[in-house]
Amino acid sequence: MLDLAARAGWRGFGLVEPNPMVGCVLAREGPGGEPRVVGVGHHRRFGGIHAERDALADCAKRGEPGGARGSTAYVTLEPCNGHGKQPPCVEALIEAGVVRVVFAERDPSATKGGGSDALARTGIVSRQSLVSAWASRLSAPWRKHLATGLPWVIVKWAQTIDGRVATGSGDSKWISAEPSRRMVHALRGRVDAVLTGVGTVLTDDPLLDCRVGVPRTRAVRVVVDSNLRTPLESRLLKTVSKSGGSEPGGVVIACTSSVFARDADRVERFKRAGVSVLACERDPTKPCAGTEQVDLADLLRRMASQHHGLGRNGSGVQTVLVEAGPRLIGSLLRASLVDEIVAFTAPFALPDSAARPASESTSQQSPFGLIHDGRGLGTFRPGLARLVRGCDDMLTTWWRDPNNSGRTSRSAAPNQTE
Ligand SMILES: NC(=O)c1ccc[n+]([C@@H]2O[C@H](COP(=O)([O-])OP(=O)(O)OC[C@H]3O[C@@H](n4cnc5c(N)ncnc54)[C@H](OP(=O)(O)O)[C@@H]3O)[C@@H](O)[C@H]2O)c1
Repeated sequence: MLDLAARAGWRGFGLVEPNPMVGCVLAREGPGGEPRVVGVGHHRRFGGIHAERDALADCAKRGEPGGARGSTAYVTLEPCNGHGKQPPCVEALIEAGVVRVVFAERDPSATKGGGSDALARTGIVSRQSLVSAWASRLSAPWRKHLATGLPWVIVKWAQTIDGRVATGSGDSKWISAEPSRRMVHALRGRVDAVLTGVGTVLTDDPLLDCRVGVPRTRAVRVVVDSNLRTPLESRLLKTVSKSGGSEPGGVVIACTSSVFARDADRVERFKRAGVSVLACERDPTKPCAGTEQVDLADLLRRMASQHHGLGRNGSGVQTVLVEAGPRLIGSLLRASLVDEIVAFTAPFALPDSAARPASESTSQQSPFGLIHDGRGLGTFRPGLARLVRGCDDMLTTWWRDPNNSGRTSRSAAPNQTE
């Protein structure tokens, strides 16, 4: 039931942020004791009704005799217990006569949490269940942002079956098939930010926007570029409106604070082109002057804070999609800053001894071997593994499991971009 609730909640991806995605299923015991679904709902848009009320409305629409009275509510997040843009869900569940609530993750927020205790005080049995990894994953970006001030980082790459993401000369655009690329565009149209490295900008000259279907949001595009090498004539910069880089769809270039101070002319030229330049701390693991690089944890913290006006309505970036080369991905993995990996694998090998792996300067050359022997990516748990509809690419996902319980259920794996 929680898997089913998670599947419903995914439909809000890109529409509900900075709120969490939430799904709810109402079920009642059938004559033989088997559970029977009487209502399904999800949080549909920021400021709109919550999943529990949406499920109750669905139950009413189905014309269930007795409505939701006597049913169990399965919710991916503890029902809220405070007034915000909507009244508390706890009240709606009590009024509807729900007798039991099973929720996946606790609501850690000071103003809305405590719903489970409030339900228990009225005699409703309420308990947490971590049995559904998908239900837990659903609110993970929101909970991480709240708890750590960092965004949820999804790293995406396309690789050959032998784990290569580019030829030795840097060519990579041919690896994944059209249907896989469409899925990536859909992802871009749902996250708050798309992050890349200057290496990819110099080689591929990408746009990193969503050009397939209707984007649900326009992600800000961020280039990690310690020394401000991004060409002013790059396609990224040519598609920036003059209103500023932190605008939806804008471009932000992240350099080190010493380069920012030293290279005021170039910073000014970027600003005139409508690009925001973000001065970040220097990566302490790359000590010598002249080779200094951006401290990625500091960059992500700045992106997530409200101070820089990024993310939905300037509330800070909650979800980042990384589309970069092996250097940046290697640094992110080494610094344990990656929460989720989305890999598209094409069904052919690359006979090029200089071809590059997905992640460089780390022992984690490819996650595939490491997953199985339990080292390296041991803190990541497998999510999806399936063929991409319409082509022969394989889509595989992993995410960092904060509860680290080794759960393996994939039964209700929803399509993250549908
Ligand atoms: N198959 C795929 O899915 C895919 C996707 C994207 C790219 N690619 C391929 O990847 C290749 C480019 O990869 P790349 O590794 O050269 O470039 P990259 O990872 O996109 O960017 C690396 C650059 O980022 C900058 N950077 C700043 N701070 C950093 C930090 N803390 N750690 C690491 N890098 C930092 C560095 O330049 P500074 O020191 O100057 O800042 C570094 O050279 C291209 O061939 C492209 O086609 C493939």
